Amino acid sequence: MTLFTPSAGSVRDASRPTRRHEDRRYLALVLRRSRRDLATARERPPQSPELTGAQPPPEQTRGPASGAEDDELERVRERYLDVVKRALTHLLYRPLDVHFEDLGIDVDPEMRAAAAREFARPDFDWADVRAEGRDYPRFAQTMIGLRRLDNLQRCVATIVRDRVRGDLIETGVWRGGATILMRAVLEAYGDPTRAVYVADSFCGLPEPDDTQYPADAGSRFHEAAILAVSRDEVARNFELYGLLDDRVRFLEGWFRDTLPPLAGHPWSLIRLDGDMYESTMDALTNLYPSLSIGGFLIVDDYAYEPCQQAVADYRAEHGITDPIEMIDWLGAYWRRAG
Ligand SMILES: C[S@@+](CC[C@H](N)C(=O)[O-])C[C@H]1O[C@@H](n2cnc3c(N)ncnc32)[C@H](O)[C@@H]1O
Repeated sequence: MTLFTPSAGSVRDASRPTRRHEDRRYLALVLRRSRRDLATARERPPQSPELTGAQPPPEQTRGPASGAEDDELERVRERYLDVVKRALTHLLYRPLDVHFEDLGIDVDPEMRAAAAREFARPDFDWADVRAEGRDYPRFAQTMIGLRRLDNLQRCVATIVRDRVRGDLIETGVWRGGATILMRAVLEAYGDPTRAVYVADSFCGLPEPDDTQYPADAGSRFHEAAILAVSRDEVARNFELYGLLDDRVRFLEGWFRDTLPPLAGHPWSLIRLDGDMYESTMDALTNLYPSLSIGGFLIVDDYAYEPCQQAVADYRAEHGITDPIEMIDWLGAYWRRAG
């Protein structure tokens, strides 16, 4: 998700001082980190270099085959995937595609002013905003930014290399960018069988069910027109990369309806990006039980409180203790050990 995800939270809770206060603290954190932590993050080794995408050791980037010629093959793969990621994020093109005002719902004026002051700083780097997935881009095919795409690439390469059983799925695809990268990595590694499941309503987020999911109370994401992207547009985006084939499977509808029939379907990678407690919990409940050992669970919006709460509730209920690793300021993942 993006910089203004938390502000959408503040809009929806305009009458609730506590939540607004939390949202302001969250925005302040995001903005501070955009200048300070991002600079230092480039210098310090990440917790799990292989999976956060920062300069993994060569042997860990290899595909399933090995041998001297693989070094060259790996170099070409990296070059191909690098271009795909920069195209998906629109970082290949100028002017940069960065902006914040397309949610279609009111943003708290104080937060807007605070953001404007921050963006006006001379040392503010707009490319970092796009690379870090902090905005709602106009043209980019993903909003998640390079850091989370790097993580996704490493996770997919790892499941191919380690022959972890199962297909891949993202719940909440927007314009499809993250799922396009999944398919591109499978292509780059010559994986012959795995399918990529593309799950979305293709008409935006659901209205909040305050009774069943109090954490979503007041959510106004369903009013955000920019979050409603049609299935045709997503399919066309796959086509643009030459990656639309019968191993791309569309699951159209609300997660609560489309995911239960997949019970028992084996997964090697599950990526959650549904922004709400309900969407996160529906995906975990229906998909996690058949995530293979060695597979990955990625949560795009982990730092966003309703998503984090859903993850915490699910993990507590099911006794999951695999360590959660942060990818960047927002996303997190863990690898299933048992
Ligand atoms: C933040 S966007 C996803 C961003 C995307 N992963 C990317 O790479 O840019 C959230 C998406 O989740 C979808 N969504 C959220 N909750 C949903 C639900 N319960 N059922 C179906 N789709 C949902 C929305 O339609 C929207 O496309």
